[in-house]
Amino acid sequence: MYKLIDGKEVSNHVKTKVREEVDALKEKGIEPALAVIIVGNDPASRVYVNNKKKACEFTGMRSVEYAMPEETTEEELLSVIDKLNADDSINGILCQLPVPKHISEKAVIERISAKKDVDVFSAENVGKMWQGDYDMASCTPMGVIELLDYYGIDVCGKNCVIIGRSNIVGKPMASLLLERSATVTICHSRTKNLSEITSKADLIVAAVGRAKFVTADMVKEGAIVVDVGINRNDDGKLCGDVDFENVKDKCEFITPVPGGCGPMTIAVLMKNTLLACKKQNGII
Ligand code: GUN
Repeated sequence: MYKLIDGKEVSNHVKTKVREEVDALKEKGIEPALAVIIVGNDPASRVYVNNKKKACEFTGMRSVEYAMPEETTEEELLSVIDKLNADDSINGILCQLPVPKHISEKAVIERISAKKDVDVFSAENVGKMWQGDYDMASCTPMGVIELLDYYGIDVCGKNCVIIGRSNIVGKPMASLLLERSATVTICHSRTKNLSEITSKADLIVAAVGRAKFVTADMVKEGAIVVDVGINRNDDGKLCGDVDFENVKDKCEFITPVPGGCGPMTIAVLMKNTLLACKKQNGII
């Protein structure tokens, strides 16, 4: 019988701990604050941004939203980032991705001050992560690690297969698993004999962005399956990259979608913003 990894429960646990620390900071007159920039009208981005703002409310942090129209120029966006970088009352800055095509994602990521880069997307912060010299880690991969820790799953020596090589999930996920002494394989759209590789995995992290991509024949009996995907199926229902109904019975542990990794990304974002605030105020 598989065990369901409950991302809502774990994220509430993490956010509650953040709230306690935020309350203590507020007693000292310090209010952690996150600036969230959204450019354009992507409906999925709007949902993510609203969820991030709600998490700020839950944890007692201040959130400031900069909603900018689709036609915003790169220069205009960068000047908002400059203003937020210079504002000592703002501890974390994130620009929801993707940005419209005429704006360079790289330029945006690199403009955010490394100490306020709570997404951990900048080359400087990503480089530190790979060197194991970091206190803030990318939100989605760190959310996966927190889930594994909560359920007492030790990845040391385990054969871990990540499907997906994005900068947001696949690559930093590899870094965090490697740091915990897992044996890590990253697969992607060009990988040959994918199911041969995944069917030897003790842990699969699916981050491909294709609904029900991971099927039962790709999964070993007793595997742990973590589904980072957020897709819509033909009926518009939210579903992951894993064919949950058919895969679950082969697993020791599996994450659902929704209610698995999604809430954890936001919980780690709250942790990172709190940490950024403490560092900026000389508390740690
Ligand atoms: N778009 C998809 N995931 C993320 C994320 O974690 N942070 C930001 N800024 N944009 C995203």
